[in-house]
Amino acid sequence: MPAMASVLALAGLGKDYGDRRAVDAVDLEIAAGTIVGLLGPNGAGKTTTISMASGVVTPTRGTALVDGHDVWRAPRLAKRALGLVPQELALYDELSARQNLRYFGRIYGLAGAELGARIDWALGVAGLADRADDPVSQFSGGMKRRLNLAAGVLHKPKLLILDEPTVGVDPQSRNHIFETVRSLRGEGMTVLYTSHYMEEVEALCDRVAIMDHGKLVAAGTIDELVTSHGGEGLDVEISGDAPSARAAAAALASPIGGDGAILRLPEIQPLAPVLAAIEATGAKIKSISSRRGNLEGVFLALTGKALRDE
Ligand SMILES: Nc1ncnc2c1ncn2[C@@H]1O[C@H](COP(=O)(O)OP(=O)(O)OP(=O)(O)O)[C@@H](O)[C@H]1O
Ligand SMILES: [Mg+2]
Repeated sequence: MPAMASVLALAGLGKDYGDRRAVDAVDLEIAAGTIVGLLGPNGAGKTTTISMASGVVTPTRGTALVDGHDVWRAPRLAKRALGLVPQELALYDELSARQNLRYFGRIYGLAGAELGARIDWALGVAGLADRADDPVSQFSGGMKRRLNLAAGVLHKPKLLILDEPTVGVDPQSRNHIFETVRSLRGEGMTVLYTSHYMEEVEALCDRVAIMDHGKLVAAGTIDELVTSHGGEGLDVEISGDAPSARAAAAALASPIGGDGAILRLPEIQPLAPVLAAIEATGAKIKSISSRRGNLEGVFLALTGKALRDE
């Protein structure tokens, strides 16, 4: 990835809280016009990384450049290029949607007719034009999330950072946020997106970075990650004594996943002895199908945890 095209460049970025190393030393570059998914189990360090990249949390070590500007040495230039949609809602309940956006727009240095036009645009983006003058206290959780997003894109930043933007929202709002991110990218925005929803990341993101225990454990396209971190193999369907067949296969290949009559084999060579061992138990092989790996498998292989996918 050529450095000149990086809209976000993190180098050795890390944070300690006392003795706790929240983030170790993250290196990550995001090319202009891409959507990058940042995945990791709870407590992996995603929010801390994003907060350092946005100038909200002071790093213990390393640097963060947004559009080439050092977040700590040239904060004004860096922050102009950056929109952050935080995990925790940052809205004033007693103010209307429009008043909230006016407040955030002023923070970004917008004023007058330009601010008014941007507010109308952002309300449209969030699908809240018809509720613009209602107090936020009357909004549903999903509407608040959408307004939170509108506040982060008001100044049309080059880089948009979203921290779990779809947690706890109804499917309709979730789809809306999802489509909004797509269309913002269509307008040239670069997006860093943390999520626990795998289909979302698979459908939306060009690249994925996975964190665990404060470290970046893998980064690449989904295809690259699936190829290098497994998840692929064969599903063998049998009839007969499944536990015996499973034990026989496990003696030659591990781990064997699946349950009941489906033995889920990892990618193994040679295959014939494993099949022979299964047949030697008296079981019959009814079908063999190849299993394409997916992001869930990669995540499991790298972190030992399942992606939350409620
Ligand atoms: N202000 C803080 N003070 C002390 N420890 C903190 C602070 N903020 C985060 N941590 C710790 O840093 C680690 C990383 O937390 P972080 O919030 O970055 O994780 P996360 O990947 O965003 O998790 P989640 O998926 O739950 O949002 C955790 O161990 C957390 O307890
Ligand atoms: Mg978080």
